[in-house]
Amino acid sequence: MDFKRHIAAHIQAGELSEDEIYSMLALPPNTEMGDFALPCFRLAKTMRKAPALIAQEIADNYKKDDIVSQVSAVNGYVNFKINRAVWAEQTLGRIFAEREKYGSSDEGQGRTVCIDYSSVNIAKPFHIGHLSTTVLGSSLYKLHKFLGYKPVGINHLGDYGTQFGKLISAYKRWGKREDIEKGGLRALNALYVRFHEEAEKDPSLNDEARAFFKKIEEKDEESVALFNWFKELTLKDVGRIYEMLDVHFDSWAGESFYNDKMQPVIDELREKGLLKESEGAQIVDLEAYGMPPCIILRSDGASLYATRDIAAAIYRKKTYDFYKCLYVVAYQQNLHFKQFFKVLELMGKEWAKDLVHVAYGMVSLEDGSMSTRKGKVVYLEDVIQKCVQKALSIITEKNPTLENKEQIAKTVGVGAVIFGALYNNKIKDITFSYDKVLNFEGETSCYVQYTCARANSVLEKGGRASEWKAGEICPQEFELVKKLADFPNVLHEALEKYEPCYVARYAVDLAQVYNKFYFDCSILNAEKETREFRLALTEATLIALKNALGLLGIGVPEKM
Ligand code: ARG
Repeated sequence: MDFKRHIAAHIQAGELSEDEIYSMLALPPNTEMGDFALPCFRLAKTMRKAPALIAQEIADNYKKDDIVSQVSAVNGYVNFKINRAVWAEQTLGRIFAEREKYGSSDEGQGRTVCIDYSSVNIAKPFHIGHLSTTVLGSSLYKLHKFLGYKPVGINHLGDYGTQFGKLISAYKRWGKREDIEKGGLRALNALYVRFHEEAEKDPSLNDEARAFFKKIEEKDEESVALFNWFKELTLKDVGRIYEMLDVHFDSWAGESFYNDKMQPVIDELREKGLLKESEGAQIVDLEAYGMPPCIILRSDGASLYATRDIAAAIYRKKTYDFYKCLYVVAYQQNLHFKQFFKVLELMGKEWAKDLVHVAYGMVSLEDGSMSTRKGKVVYLEDVIQKCVQKALSIITEKNPTLENKEQIAKTVGVGAVIFGALYNNKIKDITFSYDKVLNFEGETSCYVQYTCARANSVLEKGGRASEWKAGEICPQEFELVKKLADFPNVLHEALEKYEPCYVARYAVDLAQVYNKFYFDCSILNAEKETREFRLALTEATLIALKNALGLLGIGVPEKM
């Protein structure tokens, strides 16, 4: 039940429409004052009266009902108090009716949203820098689905470029099939690093690499087979990580998929008079928009990253007829996205406005820098494994007799990595710290998971409430009810702003409110009616926490 809507529908305030009133209703700074407040200052002008007087009139005219228990005018505000028992009953009623669907909606019905995320590069390490795009994108995918959209998850693989020529050259010179087969991505990366070291001494290697790349393009059998093998090895390795993180894709159409889809784009650009020659290259001039030119074809005729992205956007529109197409990519690529979005707009694609670059900040480890070329990289898989190991030792220490420790440590450790990347506004740079993400008292997933385990244990001892009624409601209970009721709004906001961190913060907030309730109010020893209601609150909390973590890709162990 949307109480704000209910109030808005029952207020008489001059010429204002219900929707206008709805958008003006705010939350008072504290619950003592009321649950909603209507500020009347903006009305003073049109109604030609002092705000305090307007507030008084609105309060006097408001007809109280079962839902609104108190209306008062204070300093130009009208404050409304909702009947707490009604609020509790409606909220818990909805949670128990919807359970694992609580918070979902059909607001996105009929809308397809393409989400381009993770988009790894073949034969390059899957490192800590890929963490954010992977978990942000995956969470946005789950959120969209939960709110009724049809998401299409796309892994725009980096499977095209001269680096594959380098890799073939390196493999033929120094590689052994069994070693690569065994070592996977890391062995491939070692080859890549070696190539760069050797090419510094002998620059002719670069020509050889270029020649091999050309061979791939000309579909030379051996080169293509090697390339496909590299691709297969990469996908096997990253697949393991995706599985751990509960990340999925509907399409793996990568850069090379657009090889035969770029010519029509180039023709169209030329036809529309957008292509210009500059130092032998073909470009779209963007000076009028304060940007450097978007290069479409290099002087040697090779296409570029942007050319592929233009072709990909057109292909996606045609294939999925998206409502929005999101690109979850680091802010370092801001200019790239601005440029090719503009080119599409200049081509007259009115849907260019529906392309959204969901930019995020950098993740680094406490100890510093990375470079793919020099081989100094922090593999995401290592970070996850280390978190799982640490989780295991913490759990073993806290609860030595716990069964299934390994499995639980995995859920906790993986959750810590994901939550660590999702807890802050996405644009912020973050420094990943093992101690911080695994702090059971911090703003972490393990704190939330631990709260779930607590709730589970309460329910195990007290039984699930079958018949409960909201009677007198104490402040701790009421705070909890309000927090629980807020979940659907939080999801809506998180999707609108492409901010899974709202969901992460909500989970921590709800866990904190529950814990306050748990420590302040006795549950199991309360008298019957109160006890039943508190058990119901406990179960409702567990449902909402599980749903919130689930949308981030994090599981919840029964016990911890
Ligand atoms: N593979 C690219 C990189 O690692 C990211 C691709 C993002 N998606 C896109 N459509 N450009 O930088």
